[in-house]
Amino acid sequence: MTVKIIVGAQWGDEGKGKITDILAEKMDLVVRYQGGNNAGHTVVVGDKTFKLHLIPSGILYKTVTCVIGNGVVLDPEVLFQEMATLRAQGIEVSPDYFKISSIAHVILPFHKLLDSKQEADRCENKIGTTGRGIGPCYTDKISRNGVRIIDLLNKDRLTKLIRQRNWETILNTNLDIDGIIEQYHQLGLRLKPYVTDTSLYINQAIDAGKNLILEGAQGTMLDVDHGTYPYVTSSNPVSGGACIGTGIGPHKIHQVIGVAKAYSTRVGEGPFPTELTENMGELLRQRGAEFGTTTNRPRRCGWLDLVGLKYAIRVNGLTEICLTKLDVLDECKSINVCTSYRTTDGTVLTELPLDYDEFASCTPIYEELPGWESDISNITDYDHLPPNAKAYAQYVSEQVGVPITLISVGSRRNQTIHLLQV
Ligand code: IMP
Repeated sequence: MTVKIIVGAQWGDEGKGKITDILAEKMDLVVRYQGGNNAGHTVVVGDKTFKLHLIPSGILYKTVTCVIGNGVVLDPEVLFQEMATLRAQGIEVSPDYFKISSIAHVILPFHKLLDSKQEADRCENKIGTTGRGIGPCYTDKISRNGVRIIDLLNKDRLTKLIRQRNWETILNTNLDIDGIIEQYHQLGLRLKPYVTDTSLYINQAIDAGKNLILEGAQGTMLDVDHGTYPYVTSSNPVSGGACIGTGIGPHKIHQVIGVAKAYSTRVGEGPFPTELTENMGELLRQRGAEFGTTTNRPRRCGWLDLVGLKYAIRVNGLTEICLTKLDVLDECKSINVCTSYRTTDGTVLTELPLDYDEFASCTPIYEELPGWESDISNITDYDHLPPNAKAYAQYVSEQVGVPITLISVGSRRNQTIHLLQV
């Protein structure tokens, strides 16, 4: 029996979906613990591409039960669309193998409207949210005004909860509140076969000796506590969030796997010291197809930041790293890796500064490593990698002090190099 957490070690989009998909083959349960449909996973199996926003990528295996934990914020309409798309692609989504927490919070139409309004009101200080209502939904949860899945099933309670919020005043617009209440009650009834006490279900699975993945969305640097606040999402993607978002105790976790790209990307606003704005940034964007799965926005691209990666190892307690998209660097003659930052007064920092302004003004200090200038996308054995590609992976691992247990060299399942059995 093992319980593994999979967490993004950077700003999200590290390729967690592919890693979860690879590891899910040997799992019984894959549980999503936070975030909502701001996330996007692309998984390529054979000639089929699956785009997932809410349902864990374990759904692609018949033997895996997928669970949406209590820490997720769920947009029921998006969920039903995703289920329909999966079914059209031949994937079964049955209540026997797909469970939703009864106490996960619901993204309501008001949250989406408020997300857009708040982002517009931020004028110059935009966060670059995905506009999916994530922040307002979590805000309602924390301020004890939220609506949970369980509340959708009780129309009187749902009416009271929605009516008490005065959404028309908050949004300064006329709304068909009664129509929305009825619509969400009906959506709740459709969800009912999947809804359960998932903490109980997950703990019983652990007690029965099952294998589990707890899958995070977004990444460490977007964590509301440990990320580059306020340019963050409104939940805790870090490993600590896995216990809260699933209802299991920390002593039940065996491995914390960090997924990191061989370079860095960020969507939305906020500091990003190793960002490359010119040719090399564009090369990484094109070679890595760095466009958001959820919003299709071009991602900002830059070199790998080891200061940030070490920080991710610390705040998550990472036991290992899966290094993804190494093949994207195939054409580089040389590759820079950020080992420390220089502040405006010339101080060299080897730890990530928590002051936002200080972080934003840091310039990266790079170590330059030789590229391998050859196609590695069909290599599945570590020993067959070009020496400079191996040296790059070894350098990263030595610098951050945790092993790399898997290298991904393409989006397909077989474009994967296993270094240790994970
Ligand atoms: P929100 O989560 O929609 O509120 O967006 C807050 C910030 O997190 C924005 O900068 C988004 O671009 C970013 N973000 C949210 N979800 C993801 C993701 O799955 N990958 C990368 N960035 C994300």
